Amino acid sequence: MSEKPKRPRGLTDLPGVSSAIADRLAVAGFGTIEALAAALPQEIASITGLSLSASQKIISAAREALDLGFKTADELYEKRMRVARITTGSKNLDKLLGGGVETQIITEFYGEYGSGKTQICHQLCVNVQLPRDGGGLEGSAVYVDCEGTFRPERIVSMSRALGLDPQRALKNVIVARAYNSDHQMLIVDQVKDIIGEKNVKLLVVDSVTGFFRAEYPGRETLVMRQQKLNKHLHSLSRLAYTYEIAVVVTNQVMARPDVVFGDPIAAVGGHVLFHVPGARVFLRKLRGSKRVARLVDSPYLPEGEVVFEITEDGIRDPSDYE
Ligand code: GTP
Ligand code: MG
Repeated sequence: MSEKPKRPRGLTDLPGVSSAIADRLAVAGFGTIEALAAALPQEIASITGLSLSASQKIISAAREALDLGFKTADELYEKRMRVARITTGSKNLDKLLGGGVETQIITEFYGEYGSGKTQICHQLCVNVQLPRDGGGLEGSAVYVDCEGTFRPERIVSMSRALGLDPQRALKNVIVARAYNSDHQMLIVDQVKDIIGEKNVKLLVVDSVTGFFRAEYPGRETLVMRQQKLNKHLHSLSRLAYTYEIAVVVTNQVMARPDVVFGDPIAAVGGHVLFHVPGARVFLRKLRGSKRVARLVDSPYLPEGEVVFEITEDGIRDPSDYE
């Protein structure tokens, strides 16, 4: 598969825009690619002194950089056909997800502490490296660690269990420790710069909600928190779609022991993926190392529950059913 060109970050990355022209555009209020994409050729021509056709070319380049505009159904079909999946290590869990964790969308794993979110993330960082006929994408992973719970030794034991060279497996996981929600968003913003170069096929954000909850506590800040989080989820979603990578986020939800009746999922507080396409998987503890996964609100896969197990080797199907 051909690699995507690097996306322009500033005006001067667009063909035909020198720094002098970029300065003139910025002064006139066209300092961003978004603004340029919505401009008229006449405006740009009069600001820059360029010809109308040169101005039109710059605007088109800005639109292309933003991926604006219409696509025909066959282009969409082609893109859809390129959706690939990463095995979770458990056939049950893969089946629930329609074959594994998908590229081009976000998959959210949510559940209470110890439900297996971080272990699944580690496993996917190893499995994405597997050959395509072995459930992987022959790619590398970026792990945005927001809780300080990334453990390289887990990568070693999980890769060893699959017969992969642990040293190589470690090199294919790029870890970024985030220190607050702004930092987290900044890191995600920079990921696109290394996707091509490092052949990144998976981006993990563990946990996607922790900093937002801590920084915007209480009911008064709920709206602000949600807005900021939505913005973040949208950039993640865009990254997944544009670069055709799998994005996996985790979200810790509290058990509510005071809620005795009703739907236990509703009782723990829900997922955060509301307005972006993706898969939402609720995890809960069963007993010992066994866990239950349930697919929630899927538009095209049947809802259902499966059991998987967290073993020393990683995520697996349970060895025994009682
Ligand atoms: P929070 O981040 O606290 O919300 O929890 P989480 O959902 O990320 O849970 P996590 O994936 O960290 O852990 C789930 C369970 O995996 C733990 O309770 C352990 O039982 C198990 N586990 C973690 N590390 C290991 C390990 O190295 N070996 C084995 N066999 N099990 C492990
Ligand atoms: Mg965790």
